[in-house]
Amino acid sequence: MSYPYQIKNLEGYHEAYQKSIQDPNTFWGEVAEHFTWHKKWDKVSDWNFKDPSIQWFVGGKLNITENCLDRHLATMGDKPAIIWEPNDPAEEHHILTYKQLHLKVCQFAQVLYNNGVKKGDRVCIYMGMIPELAIAVLACARIGAIHSVIFGGFSAQSIADRLDDAKANFIITCDGAFRGSKDIPLKSVIDDALIGNKNIQRVIVCTRTRTAVSMLQGRDVWWEDEIKNVEAQGIQFVPAEVMDAEDPLFILYTSGSTGKPKGVVHTVAGYMVYTNYTFVNTFNYNPDDLFFCTADIGWITGHSYIVYAPLCAGGTSMMFEGIPTFPDAGRFWDIIDKFKVNILYTAPTAIRSLMGFGLGPVKGHDLSSLKVLGTVGEPINEEAWNWYNEQIGKNKCPIVDTWFQTETGGIMISNMAGVTPGKAGWATYPMPGIELILVDDQGVEITTQDGEGMYRGNLCIKQAWPAAIRTTYGDHERCRTNYFATYNNLYFTGDGAFRNEAGQFRITGRVDDVLNVSGHRIGTAEVENAINMHAGVVESAVVGYPHDIKGQGIYAYVIYTGSHAQDSHGSAEMIRKDILQTVTRIIGPIAKPDKIQFVAGLPKTRSGKIMRRILRKVAEGELNSLGDTSTLLDPAVVDEIVKGVV
Ligand code: WT7
Repeated sequence: MSYPYQIKNLEGYHEAYQKSIQDPNTFWGEVAEHFTWHKKWDKVSDWNFKDPSIQWFVGGKLNITENCLDRHLATMGDKPAIIWEPNDPAEEHHILTYKQLHLKVCQFAQVLYNNGVKKGDRVCIYMGMIPELAIAVLACARIGAIHSVIFGGFSAQSIADRLDDAKANFIITCDGAFRGSKDIPLKSVIDDALIGNKNIQRVIVCTRTRTAVSMLQGRDVWWEDEIKNVEAQGIQFVPAEVMDAEDPLFILYTSGSTGKPKGVVHTVAGYMVYTNYTFVNTFNYNPDDLFFCTADIGWITGHSYIVYAPLCAGGTSMMFEGIPTFPDAGRFWDIIDKFKVNILYTAPTAIRSLMGFGLGPVKGHDLSSLKVLGTVGEPINEEAWNWYNEQIGKNKCPIVDTWFQTETGGIMISNMAGVTPGKAGWATYPMPGIELILVDDQGVEITTQDGEGMYRGNLCIKQAWPAAIRTTYGDHERCRTNYFATYNNLYFTGDGAFRNEAGQFRITGRVDDVLNVSGHRIGTAEVENAINMHAGVVESAVVGYPHDIKGQGIYAYVIYTGSHAQDSHGSAEMIRKDILQTVTRIIGPIAKPDKIQFVAGLPKTRSGKIMRRILRKVAEGELNSLGDTSTLLDPAVVDEIVKGVV
């Protein structure tokens, strides 16, 4: 069995690609025919990058959960929709069939109604990786509430900022979350985030860890009690709210090169069609395949490829609560053998970290159920690619290297398993509908090859695609300036790339002040702001440096003049820890610098701009190629920094 819009071979890809570029409306209109609509669209697309204004399936009416759930009930109600594996292998796994998931989503949708949630309300979800997280997401979509999932590793301060920006009225959380040997007190973090918050009407708390929580009278309710109420009401079905194609589906916050994280907005129809199309075609998904995406639902990968796309395709999605190294580094391989996973989709950082444990944890595992492997989140180095290919794929599974972004909603560049060839370290070909262009810093197309026969430049996209970012919540101008104003009539990705003669792309990484740490995007300005909050810190500058496991590590240069500086018991180490604690408080542990170097001054131009280029070189250990430092206000600063490298 396959899907009507599934590409079968290389010619099929070229054909689909040609058609999608020449006549995108016909192309996407045909794909969209295979979904369930209350009313079909009047116009497939209507867009310009100037405002920007991007609309797909204009005038269409639908609900994404009817596409993910209801439409499968008659033919595959008893098929597993989600298979959930807990953090602790000693605990039982759960299987939710389409029927069961549908019932739970309906019941929780009623819980939302009972608690006053309405279409268009913003609901923040801060939960661990338990089935109730997927249920909460889908229940919001069912009633047309806009979910904003926040990854469980973010701090109270980060949550407070996001709640405020999204003007959220509701929160769904858990008492706590299990992650490896740790137990994260989610509700307590939410309580801290809510100090002074006037907008939140209700906090729904799901039980997971049974850690003690404080439940505020009139504001906080238990998930389980609310479900009991719905059962007492005898409700087993809640009709899906009929949504406009362009109604917002969710907000997902992501970092940029300046200021606070932006709330990327995706809308219902285009996101649904595009994520489903890319899912089926990138992984060559067969409806009976068990698909295991190891991301957290708190990131775009989890939204698109754990929840929406696999369910929309009537597939089976594996959901894992834990981490790759708990109780040992064989955890992924155990899960693959236990459930006979067919497709594994993970991050290069996880592969590198598991490689570090040697072949011991892989031994004794069968892994023969695997057909396709995937990577996402950062460039994959050849060594990790080869290990993945040989040790996990046993040289028989295509590896798809999928490039995309929170803003793009779904996969944009990737080889297609069994259809287009892969190439270690290369994301290769654009998806149908995606027209890429490489430009120089002035926005002029790169038309000449470098010495190695490559076209190198800044990666941009020429035409709108169905899952493109629509706006940044509450601040459309920010969306325009961030993505659509750098180059005329182009969407700028923030990444650099090169293309070979064959038209394949290799992503080289961010060209802006954004870091990619273990596949997570972190703005240097954000980390600097957090460090600067620490008493005694005068100024700081943050850059990335190559890190064996994380891809990029965070290197912070800090000017510190607090009283502790003169402390007799040599407390540079203490101050370092204090700064890490501050960053953890302000952003979360994922943003903690790996290295902190205390400096007396930072290299600045005469106009006061920090010369990051030099700091990057120092952090990368390239001390002999610092370039021209003569334009600096005080070139001596650089010598001092070089001497103090950590
Ligand atoms: C940035 C987007 C969407 C995946 C999760 C991260 C980098 C993503 C690849 C890849 C090289 C990649 C880019 C991109 N990136 N996938 N296959 N090869 N780089 O989503 O947090 O929105 O970050 O991740 O730099 O711009 P995100």
